[in-house]
Amino acid sequence: MICGVLGMVEISRIVGILESLIRIPTYSILGLADERIVYLSTLEGVLSLWSMDKNGGDRKRLTIEPINGATLPKPWSPYVVFIRDVTRGQELHRVFYVDARGGEEKLLADTPPMRIFGLGFDGSRVAFTGATARDVAIYLAKLDGSWEKLRVVDKLMFVTDIEGKYIVGFGNLRGDPRTFELFIYDLDTNEFKMYTPKPGSQNKAPIIRNGKILFESNYEGKNRLYLYDPETGALEKLVFKHDDYEKYDPVEHDAYGWTNDGILWAVGKKNGRSKLFLDGKLIPLPEGTIHGHPVFTDGKVLVAISGLLKPPEILEVDLEKNNTRVVVENRLPEFIEESFGEVRFVKYKSFDGLEIPMYVALSNTSPKPGPSIVYVHGGPWSEVRDVWSIMIASLVAMGYHVLAPNFRGSTGYGDEFRVLDIGDPGGGDLEDIVYAAKWGVNNKIASQDKIAVMGYSYGGYMTYLAMGKYPDIWKCGVAGAGIVDWEEMYGLSDAIFKQFIEVLFAGKKELLRERSPIIYVDNVKKPLCIIHPQNDTRTPLKPVLKYIEKLLDKNKTFEAHIIPDMGHVIIKMEDAVKILLPALIFLEKYLKQ
Ligand code: 4NP
Repeated sequence: MICGVLGMVEISRIVGILESLIRIPTYSILGLADERIVYLSTLEGVLSLWSMDKNGGDRKRLTIEPINGATLPKPWSPYVVFIRDVTRGQELHRVFYVDARGGEEKLLADTPPMRIFGLGFDGSRVAFTGATARDVAIYLAKLDGSWEKLRVVDKLMFVTDIEGKYIVGFGNLRGDPRTFELFIYDLDTNEFKMYTPKPGSQNKAPIIRNGKILFESNYEGKNRLYLYDPETGALEKLVFKHDDYEKYDPVEHDAYGWTNDGILWAVGKKNGRSKLFLDGKLIPLPEGTIHGHPVFTDGKVLVAISGLLKPPEILEVDLEKNNTRVVVENRLPEFIEESFGEVRFVKYKSFDGLEIPMYVALSNTSPKPGPSIVYVHGGPWSEVRDVWSIMIASLVAMGYHVLAPNFRGSTGYGDEFRVLDIGDPGGGDLEDIVYAAKWGVNNKIASQDKIAVMGYSYGGYMTYLAMGKYPDIWKCGVAGAGIVDWEEMYGLSDAIFKQFIEVLFAGKKELLRERSPIIYVDNVKKPLCIIHPQNDTRTPLKPVLKYIEKLLDKNKTFEAHIIPDMGHVIIKMEDAVKILLPALIFLEKYLKQ
C-alpha cells in the first residue's frame, strides 16, 4: 500500500487540534472539606486536587505532582486523602493527604507501595484495598501515621467507606463471576461478613452513615437503592418523597448520598446520560453526564457536568428558584467547535439479534459517508457515555465520524447486559464491534473503504483481535495499551488482575489462548499503529514486543510507539499527547488518504 506524504498543512493542523484540546481541562467534584469545595482537574496539565470556596472563588491547586485518585472528603475534616503512583507508571501507590485550605501535602502512612483501588475516609482513618504480587487485602491507616493490614481477601473487591466500627465495600465474593456481594468488616471483632439480599444478585458501592449502609442492588429486578442495618439485619428499599426519580426509571446509579440535613440524593443513569434527584425530585440540568459528586450547600447544589463534545463545566443550581449559574466555565476554540457535528444515541442489532447501544459523534468537516472510526472503549466493564472524551473529541475535530458501540459487557444497560462478556471475552463483544462498522456503512455515515478500528486497553485488545480476525473490514487500526496474549499476561499480573482475568474468563483457562490476538497475527493485512506505555502493569508491554517481532518477521505495515516513564492510566496531558499525536498522524496517512 503506497500512501502520500503528509505536508506541512496537515501536520500543523494535527498539532493545532491537539494543542487546543489539551488546554480543555476536566472537572470532577469530590465533596466538601471544612467549607471548601474539593474537586479534581487537569487545568494545569496534570490531574490535581483543587479547592474553592462555596461561591466558586479563591481557587487553589492543592497538589503539584499528578495524583491517581482521591477519597471523598468529609465536611467535618479539612483533609483530603489521595493516592499517588510512586513508581513512574507501575501503579504502586501510597496514600497522602493535604489540607483543603492549602499547605504542604504529607505522606499519610509508610505502607509498602501497592496497587490501591477502593478507598474510604472518615475524617481521621482511611480504609483501602491494596494488591501486591502476592495478595489482595484490606488495610487501615490513620492520620497519625499508624497503619495495619487487616485481612487478606483474595477476591476482586473494593473498599468504599468506613464509619465507626465498620469498613464496607463490595466485590465478587461468592466465587460466582456474575454476581457482586457486599462485605462488612467489623473492626471490633475483626469479622469479615459477606452480605447479599439474594444469592445471584448484584450489590454495589455501599456507603455508611449513622450505622446504616446505603447501596445499589438489583435483587428485586431493577437496580434500586437500599438501606441495610448491619446490627438488626433490617433491609429497606428507599422510597422518595417525589416521583421524578421513578418516572425517569434509572438503570444504574453513578453516585448517591445524604445532604447535611440528611436528605437523600441520587445521580441516576440511563442511556449514557445522568440526572440528579433530591429526595426523588429532578434538579434541572443540561443534558449530559454528571462527574463525581454534587455538593449541596445553603439551598444550592454545585455539579460538574459535560457532554461527549461539550467540555466539563461546574454549574450551580439554586434549589428554590431553579436557575443555573456557570461557576467554572470551559470554552472550545471556534474552529474546534465548528468541526463538531451532531451526537446521536442509537441502538443496532448485532449478529444474534441483541440490541447494542452506541454513541455516534459526527464530524462537520467530512462528507457522509466519510472516513470513520469504530472506537472501542476499555474496561471492558465501562462504556462510552455522553461525557467529554479528549480521544473522541480529537478524532471528530480531525474530520472522522466516530462510532462508539457499547458492546455486550458494557456498563450502563443493566447487569444482565454487563455480564454477557463473562466467559466470552473477544467473542460476542468482537462481533458487536464488526456490526458497528456495518451499521455505519448501512446508515451512510461510514465509507465502506475508510473505516478504522481504534481503542485503548481492552479497546486495544479488541483492535488487535479485529485486525487479525476480520482483516478485510478495516482500512487500518490503532491499538493503545492493548492485550495480545492472555496466558502471558496472566503470568505477569498481580493478585488483583489475576482475579480480574479469572472473573472475565469465568475460569475457562482453555479460552486464554484461543482469544489471544497473537495467534491471529499472521492474518493481519492492514496497517497497524501500536502505542504502548513502557511501565504498564495492567496490560504489560512484554507480550506486545513479541507481537511486534512477528509483524516484523512477516513484513506487515506497522508502527510501534513505546512511551517511556508512563503507565496504564493517562493522568497527564503530556501522556495524552504522546498517545494521540502518533495516532492522529497515522490516521491522517492511512485512513484519510
Ligand atoms: P482497561 O484494562 O481496559 O483499562 O480496564 C484492562 C486491564 C486488564 C484486563 C482488562 C482490561 N484484564 O482482563 O486483565
